[in-house]
Amino acid sequence: MLSKKNIMWHEGKVTKQHRNSLNQHKSVTLWFTGLSGSGKSTISVELEKSLHEMGIKTYRLDGDNIRHGLNSDLGFTEKDRYENIRRIGEVSKLMVDAGLITLTAFISPFRKDRKYVRSLMEDGEFVEVYIQASIEACEERDPKGLYKKARDGKIKEFTGIDSPYEAPASPEIHIDTEALTIQESVEKILTYLKDKQYL
Ligand code: ADX
Repeated sequence: MLSKKNIMWHEGKVTKQHRNSLNQHKSVTLWFTGLSGSGKSTISVELEKSLHEMGIKTYRLDGDNIRHGLNSDLGFTEKDRYENIRRIGEVSKLMVDAGLITLTAFISPFRKDRKYVRSLMEDGEFVEVYIQASIEACEERDPKGLYKKARDGKIKEFTGIDSPYEAPASPEIHIDTEALTIQESVEKILTYLKDKQYL
């Protein structure tokens, strides 16, 4: 880590609290985690649409998209995945500060990396949403044909095949995508946000 001794924090006059009160809702990161093909992107896209229609300020960060730009220098080793998640954690923290309900959809397979992102935020600002589907179901869905490529040895270190996925032990929200429809999944998350008074 580089020294920060010659750089100082500069406070603004408009704070997160001011922004949240102007927006009339709290800001939070909804951290979707799950296997590739589990439904993270699909559910977060639908949830964002519902929130937007309710007048809520949102932004969505998605693994495949971010890896085209901000994180285009990163691959899928454990070290690169950590850096991927660390950067997204910092970006999400800024977005929460900006007053947004931030939806992130990254496999984020390692518990310690997700725990690290949680530690960056204040209590209640990191809501872990476990999008669960069995590896068999994901492989059957295989929307991008990547499981087949991984089985054929054309992709190395593919999560669930030859790289681990550590499921959350106690996520704030647990969505079983083999039992719920997309709309039911969205409703379950909206209910949580209302019950906990984020909205
Ligand atoms: S993470 O593990 O670092 O959180 P991230 O969510 O950004 O991953 O990217 C995952 C997406 O990259 C997958 O949905 C898939 O489309 C693609 N991908 C390409 N190679 C791999 C790989 N080896 N393991 C997992 N996903 C991969």
